[in-house]
Formats: sequence, structure tokens, C-alpha cells
Amino acid sequence: MPDDQPLPPSLLDRLQALLGPRGLLTDPADLAPHLSDWRNLYRGRTPCVIRPGSVEELAAAVRLCAAAGTPLVPQGGNTSMVGGATPDEGGGQVVVSLARLNRVRDIDPLDMTMTAEAGLVLKAAQDAAAEAGCLFPLSLGAEGTATVGGVLSTNAGGNTTVRYGNARDLMLGLEVVLPDGQVWNGLRRLRKDNTGYALRHLFVGAEGTLGFVTAAVLRLFPRPRETEVALCAVQDEDAALALFRRFRDRDEGAVRAFEYMSGEGVGFYAKHIEGGTVPLPGFDHYVLVDLASSRPEAGLRGLLEAVLEEALEAGEVLDATIGESEAQRHALWRIREEHPEAQKREGASVKNDVSVPVSRTPELIRRSSEACRALIPGVRPVPFGHMGDGNIHMNLEQPVGMDPAEFLARSHDIMETVNAVVRDLGGSFSAEHGIGRLKTDMMEDWRGGAELDLMRRIKAAVDPKGLMNPGKVLP
Ligand code: MLT
Ligand code: ZN
Repeated sequence: MPDDQPLPPSLLDRLQALLGPRGLLTDPADLAPHLSDWRNLYRGRTPCVIRPGSVEELAAAVRLCAAAGTPLVPQGGNTSMVGGATPDEGGGQVVVSLARLNRVRDIDPLDMTMTAEAGLVLKAAQDAAAEAGCLFPLSLGAEGTATVGGVLSTNAGGNTTVRYGNARDLMLGLEVVLPDGQVWNGLRRLRKDNTGYALRHLFVGAEGTLGFVTAAVLRLFPRPRETEVALCAVQDEDAALALFRRFRDRDEGAVRAFEYMSGEGVGFYAKHIEGGTVPLPGFDHYVLVDLASSRPEAGLRGLLEAVLEEALEAGEVLDATIGESEAQRHALWRIREEHPEAQKREGASVKNDVSVPVSRTPELIRRSSEACRALIPGVRPVPFGHMGDGNIHMNLEQPVGMDPAEFLARSHDIMETVNAVVRDLGGSFSAEHGIGRLKTDMMEDWRGGAELDLMRRIKAAVDPKGLMNPGKVLP
């Protein structure tokens, strides 16, 4: 059914009867926060937002909508960078917020698992694990808002992928409401379970196009006993990578995060973020290194100092500062985590969430910066991110004084320019943010042929009516 058809009144009545006033929002003021994305790239419309209070309620609502042919848009914390959780402009897509399914159902410190519902905020999941004496390691800037269902549906990566993998690697089992309203309970907490197709992995990274993730069994880890964080000014991109290699060669298991930042990006932090002081201002390239170990007396400080000394002698590191307290370590991390906000405040920017083999990250940064400068004189490359796993946010800030709209009109050209370099280096046009609405038009070019054909056949088999998050992922 075309998305701009209004909801049949009888459906609204049935949803109302099923969900009650807490579970169905229709007041425009209540709908507003659900209609646009964090980047303000999209502004959609919806007749209502439904907020089921239980899995059974969700399943019943999905059955009603399926019978009426009404398309559904799952929404977690609505922090998508690619418009993956916003409805379209037609006004016929119903937003489904998982916010009320936010319980921790179970934590088992022996199995090292937590069963969490989709609407649980990521930070709350981390806190619940910590209370049980464990660590849930997935960590990203939006963790105070992003939800378990959202990070799984997008296979989020974040800052600790280098050590713990992506969301997919942290998931053992799933519970899913399928597009026809059936509930699949795959909440197994097994490390070994070879019983045919690994269906749980189908829903991770599917961005809600195959069903609703309603709960998951997540892997927990021992809590670190020691942590060290250092901000290092480095000579150039190659020196940053060389420093990563030094840490990895000494003790691979100790590196929890290894993040690159450009001097200009760090400058935006100092300029725009309240209390944004930078201990080592004025350099062109920085690295934030985070070491953690759960071993007793791991000796991380010794390791950190030894590696930094070697790298200083080799001319790779120009200066460095080590966090001496939890507060200082937090302050150093803020420089990195506030990058998206600082870039937003500086003006219009175009994001390129891309990945290449780790060894090619320096080349990616250099070549795409040069190519974008040639494309738009005065453009300001502000690359940053997860160098340790090969995912660089190759973002471009508008030239000073340029009309933001004029700059954003060049978004496509900029993304093409960066993607040409990414392709040449054997990388991916979407590393951790997903496809959403923003990148569907790139799918044919990058994943066309047998791969996209297979994705379409899976979609048709699981969601034959095409009602789950239409317009996302698949072109
Ligand atoms: C981050 O790592 O902070 C986000 O994934 C990046 C972004 O905002 O581009
Ligand atoms: Zn990131």
C-alpha cells in the first residue's frame, strides 16, 4: 500500500483498545521527537507512535497492522546517523517505539550473560553489568540514548571494537517479533549451538527490515582491574598507526580502544564544547589510547610508559599526557566523544562512515583529504575515529563562510570522492552506522549482483508484504 494512505480508522481504534493511552501517541507534540533524526537530515510524518508495554502487546499490534497492510518503522533511541529510524514523508508509516520494553530480564555472572530487552538504554545495560561485577563492553558516544535493540539492529561498533568486536559479536541469542506477528524465542545463552542457519545473525544489522528485535542475550566480560588512558600528539597518520602496532606487539589484549583525531577536529572541541580544554594543543594529529586489563597487577602503566618512550625516541610521538585519575581519564575521552557535537556546532558537515584494512587507514585519511580539497577549495577534512579497527569517520566540514546549504548540496559529490578512495583501498562505504535511508542508493553499486539479489530474496521470504521499515537498507 502506498505510504501516504491514512491509517484506516478501525485500525486506530483497535490499536487504542489494545495498547491504551500509554501505548498509543497521536498528539502532534508527542509525535514530534520521533519524526526527525539526530542529524536533522530527515523529517517524516506518522499518524501515531505505538509504544507496546510487552512483547505480546507488540506482537498483537504487528498482527493488526499486518492485516491492514500498514508499514511499521521500529525505533530505539533514535540516534541513527543515516535516517534508519525515521518514518518517510508520506504519513502512512507507523512508528513503533520499543522504549517501554526496557527490563533487564536476567544477569548470570557465571555464564557471563545478560538478557536485556530492546528498549534498555545502552548505558543502563553497562551499569547493570557493572552492578553484577561484570562488564558489557559496547561503548559509543550515544550510549546515554541508544538502546540494546538499536545497537543490535544496526550492528553498532563504537570505541571498543578493536578488543571486543561489534554488537553482533556480543550477542548469543535473540527474541524477535516477526513481520506477521509471530514471536521467535531464540534467547539461548549457548556458546556452541550449531543447529542449522544462524537465524539470530540475520536480524543483527538488518536495521529493522526483517522484524523487531525485542530482547537479546548479551555476552559479559570480566571487569577491568586496571585502566590507562593517554592522549598522544603524533607526527602524522603513519606515526599513529606505528604507535598502534607498538602497543599491539607488546600486549595485544591490553588495547581497549585506539582512536585517531585530526588537529582541526580537536580544535573544534576546544572551541565549541563547554569546558573543552585540550592538554596538548596545537598539533596536527592525535591519538587516544585506552588500555584495560582484568588481570591482577597487569602493569599497564609500565607498558604505557615504555611504549610511549620508544615512540618518542622514534619521533612518532611528539608529546603525550596520561590520565592520572578517573576524572582525568574521562576528560581525555571527552575530547574524542564530543567530536560529533563539536563538528555539528562548527557548521555543516558531511559524514563518511567508512572502513578500510587497518594498514590502509593513513592512506585513506591522506588521499581522501586531498581529493576533497581538490573538489571543494577550502573544505576542512576532520577525520577521526576507530583507527584500531580500520573505521575512520572521514568527515568534511564546510569551508569557512560558505553557505551551509550550498555545501550540503555537494554531499553526494563528497561521498563519491571519499568512496572512490575507499574502494581503491579495499574498504566499505558503511562501517558502523549502517545504510538507513542515506546510503540505499549506494547498495546497487557496492553490493549489486548476487549479494543484493540474496538480500532481496531474504527480505521477500521474511517480510513478503514489505511492511518492515520500508525504504531502508534495500534500494
Ligand atoms: C563516533 O564514533 O563518534 C560516531 O560513530 C561518529 C560520527 O558522528 O560520525
Ligand atoms: Zn564511530
